Amino acid sequence: MTTKTMTPTLDAVSPDRRPRRLRRTESIRTLVRETVVRPEDLIYPLFVVPNTRPKVEIGSMPGVWQLRVREVVDEARRAYDLGIRALLLFGLPEYKDGIGSASWDPAGPVQSAIEAIKRAVPQITVMADVCLCEYTDHGHCGVIVDHNGTKDVDNDQTLPLLAKQAVSFAAAGADFVAPSDMMDGRVAAIREALDDASLTDVGIMAYSAKYASGFYGPFREAAESAPQFGDRRSYQMDPANVREALREMELDVEEGADMIMVKPALSYLDVIRAARDNFDLPVAAYNVSGEYSMVKAAAERGWIDGPRVMNEILTSIKRAGADLIITYHALEFAEKQG
Ligand code: PBG
Repeated sequence: MTTKTMTPTLDAVSPDRRPRRLRRTESIRTLVRETVVRPEDLIYPLFVVPNTRPKVEIGSMPGVWQLRVREVVDEARRAYDLGIRALLLFGLPEYKDGIGSASWDPAGPVQSAIEAIKRAVPQITVMADVCLCEYTDHGHCGVIVDHNGTKDVDNDQTLPLLAKQAVSFAAAGADFVAPSDMMDGRVAAIREALDDASLTDVGIMAYSAKYASGFYGPFREAAESAPQFGDRRSYQMDPANVREALREMELDVEEGADMIMVKPALSYLDVIRAARDNFDLPVAAYNVSGEYSMVKAAAERGWIDGPRVMNEILTSIKRAGADLIITYHALEFAEKQG
């Protein structure tokens, strides 16, 4: 066999083989850019604490705070003024119990924050995360039962509690509720409860493909929601599965979801693409706490250029097919635009 050295010939760089022409200047690059992230694509998550507690920055999430209602309102106003159109609220209750009953207290932190934001910044879309883990003393996303000596989360006993919580947030004025518990049938249960309460305009953004992920670590500090025993693998998905994700999405669509979500985002870009290619509903992706903290930690050490990596990450999530990105970077991203 003869080896031939590849030497560039005039033919190899003939006029129609020069893609670099399209990268020559910043204005040309802007002209041909295929994916552009706008502040309007982002959903900004916020953690609300009771007014009796102080405002505290989350140690593992620099720039993210546990806020009281009036501070959440200020943050909502800042976000709206910078072009962000939606918030996702998480609540830290006054007390926890076995069934998360503080979550449907009409005077709870999330309900109070929804009302206050709707009064002060009525144009902004308010979404509320629906789950029991921030409200239960055991930290699991549903009701715990004893199955022959093994503790397990009971699916069907959990559904009415999630529905009750969702109706409570919706009655306070939430535009969307976002169930993140991964119980079977929760979208249908919540849809039915909302409709029965004449809250037919309130939408459901379903955490359809939510994986049992190590990337939620910092969030559990922020939301004080770490499970007190075991893990979430009997309800959240196995990171290895994408066909199962499509099945979860299909069920949520059938049950009445208005938007579907993939979570986390970065290690699951193929799942986002599959969601986009298989369904016509808006697809959201959650750029989760661990993804955020890794960027912050490496940037703090000077190992990476934080803002540049943030842009690249958000662009990749949108390029993969997400219409909406839930991200703790939202405000920082919006501040750097314009
Ligand atoms: C509640 C919930 C979690 C997240 C969103 N909703 C944590 C979990 O499932 O343990 C994670 C968000 C993040 O990591 O940023 N079930």
